[in-house]
Amino acid sequence: MLLAGKTALVTGAANRIGAEIARTLHQNGANLIIHYRNSSAAAHALERDLNAERNESAICYQADLSDIEALDLLAQKSTQAFDSLDFLINNASCFYPTRLGEINERDWQDLIGSNFKAPLFLSQACYPSLREANGAIVNMLDIYASSPLKNYSLYCCTKAASQMLVKSLALEMAPQVRVNGIAPGAILWPETSDANAVEKQQALLRKIPLNRTGSTESITQTVMFLLGHDYITGEVIRVDGGRLLHSA
Ligand SMILES: NC(=O)c1ccc[n+]([C@@H]2O[C@H](COP(=O)([O-])OP(=O)(O)OC[C@H]3O[C@@H](n4cnc5c(N)ncnc54)[C@H](OP(=O)(O)O)[C@@H]3O)[C@@H](O)[C@H]2O)c1
Repeated sequence: MLLAGKTALVTGAANRIGAEIARTLHQNGANLIIHYRNSSAAAHALERDLNAERNESAICYQADLSDIEALDLLAQKSTQAFDSLDFLINNASCFYPTRLGEINERDWQDLIGSNFKAPLFLSQACYPSLREANGAIVNMLDIYASSPLKNYSLYCCTKAASQMLVKSLALEMAPQVRVNGIAPGAILWPETSDANAVEKQQALLRKIPLNRTGSTESITQTVMFLLGHDYITGEVIRVDGGRLLHSA
């Protein structure tokens, strides 16, 4: 129980990678704040599961992370829930293409809001509690933060900004709070209605030296490593099967 007595806030924790991170931190003893936006049923189901394993060890909070006031409230409620806050995992994200010529302000708000604005303002709002706890932040980034994906320019820029945020906050929050990032490659395919999705996925797999997608476990192991390591800060770990070893 490496994280016994610790409390973690995971954003976008109702489904997919966020839910697996939440489960792993909880299995390792942490109390959990499960943040969600629209996925109320899944978030509450996860809360029930975790509380069935350990009574009063998990709670859900809803918030649209594009709303700055909601971020302050989320930080405040998360600290009060279990009397401290040790870890913040900035996982929530929007991901969709924005083709040049069609990019509009709504895309800007959605993509910047979830991938950059929220990690910045939520980290700032949580900082006093994290500092008191000598805690840590992990930002979920993307390999496309450092190498662009065609037709996703806005998304790539938001993740690049969030990657710089890791380094900037690591400097400003030291020595009490460590700040690191994880840049996944292909872990879980996005939910899409694209009829050519399988074909595109096969093409992408051919560019991955390890020739397969990663598992959610490959991400949760990395989160645990970063939270447990007391001398790494400002670092971004790629979990991509070697994908970025190819230039394109
Ligand atoms: N999946 C991959 O293979 C992959 C690859 C590279 C990077 N990543 C990164 O890893 C992280 C997890 O990936 P994922 O695929 O599991 O994520 P995801 O399913 O695309 O999104 C996670 C959650 O983010 C929440 N969210 C989005 N916009 C929000 C907003 N404005 N306010 C509050 N919540 C918001 C949504 O919550 P609700 O459902 O509650 O609305 C959503 O369920 C992301 O940061 C992603 O960029 C993933």
